[in-house]
Amino acid sequence: MGLKPFLVGLLAGHTIMAQMVSMPMMRFECSQLVIDRLDPLVSPGSIPAPHLHQIVGGNSFNAFMPPETHDLPTASSCTSCTFSEDFSNYWTAVLFFRARNGTYKRVPQFVSAGLRGIGGITVYYIAPYDGKTRVTAFKPGFRMLVGDAASLDKPSRNKDPKVCHRCMPKTGEGQGVECAASSRSDTAALPKEPCPGGIRSVITFPTCWDGKNIDTPDHKSHVAYPSSGTFDNNGPCPTTHPVRIPQVMYEVMWQTQIFNDKNLWPEDGVSQPFVWSNTDKNGYSQHGDYVFGWKGDALQKALDARCNGDVCKEIAMQTAEEAMKCTIGRRVKEDIDEWLPQIPGMSPLDG
Ligand SMILES: *[C@@H]1O[C@H](CO)[C@@H](O)[C@H](O)[C@H]1NC(C)=O
Repeated sequence: MGLKPFLVGLLAGHTIMAQMVSMPMMRFECSQLVIDRLDPLVSPGSIPAPHLHQIVGGNSFNAFMPPETHDLPTASSCTSCTFSEDFSNYWTAVLFFRARNGTYKRVPQFVSAGLRGIGGITVYYIAPYDGKTRVTAFKPGFRMLVGDAASLDKPSRNKDPKVCHRCMPKTGEGQGVECAASSRSDTAALPKEPCPGGIRSVITFPTCWDGKNIDTPDHKSHVAYPSSGTFDNNGPCPTTHPVRIPQVMYEVMWQTQIFNDKNLWPEDGVSQPFVWSNTDKNGYSQHGDYVFGWKGDALQKALDARCNGDVCKEIAMQTAEEAMKCTIGRRVKEDIDEWLPQIPGMSPLDG
């Protein structure tokens, strides 16, 4: 499962053949580092943070990691990602199943097709595919956030959602382009029906940077999407954000199919039973956080070499076995894996 180069090409109206040969798209597995109730971006220092996240990447991840004092490559001794000099941290909310009796069970993750690891996130770094535009790797300390954990209502502008879900068929990927308005199968909302192949959640980050700030108070204003649309990573950057950065994208596979017994689904026959860890039953509030932590110029080297897939001879790599060994203990001691009366940190949901 994954974004196919030709689909990205179609988005910008380019021909399939042109894209197949030229679009560099790094796509690699980052195994689960930890599942914990921490959020160094939005709730720095809070142990616990308001809701549960699933986190991958360098093992220096912590509740408090300010850019001035926390250098991820020097503070980390391992990473759960394929490229062994990528000590960045990547995280999202966690999905729960709510059974008819009102108790919750955490939905496990599985690894995208063609990759190996334990749960975690498939991370993409997509460069413009025109073969000319140079992308600039992030600066040390850079961080950003996509989505809004407080957004429990349907987004007013539902075109090209930056956060989307796909109800996966039993095999294969289904139809359409990730998240794009033209897609027939991706929705801002969680799918309404049982999904034979689980639910895929995709989070698409901006591709333009203001060139000055490694962060802003909302973790968003220093970056922007191309003026031509969220997914046109070849599109022009606004003058306020002129520096082209690689398009980071997360793909997370949720094994919801183990909860597809309709007898456990809501009795109204209309609602669906999956809930994000911030108690969002609709799905609009899924979010992705990024803290850059590649060592030295490793990411720039990979981008300049137009590396593709999960092999890049220009930069250091490790085996899936080594990546899977990189985990950290949970800071917040609470049960997250049994049938729970409520989602960790949250009040029980009504109805
Ligand atoms: C609720 O339902 C689940 C799924 O059938 C079951 O495993 C769990 O034990 C039930 N919990 C309670 C408190 O009845």
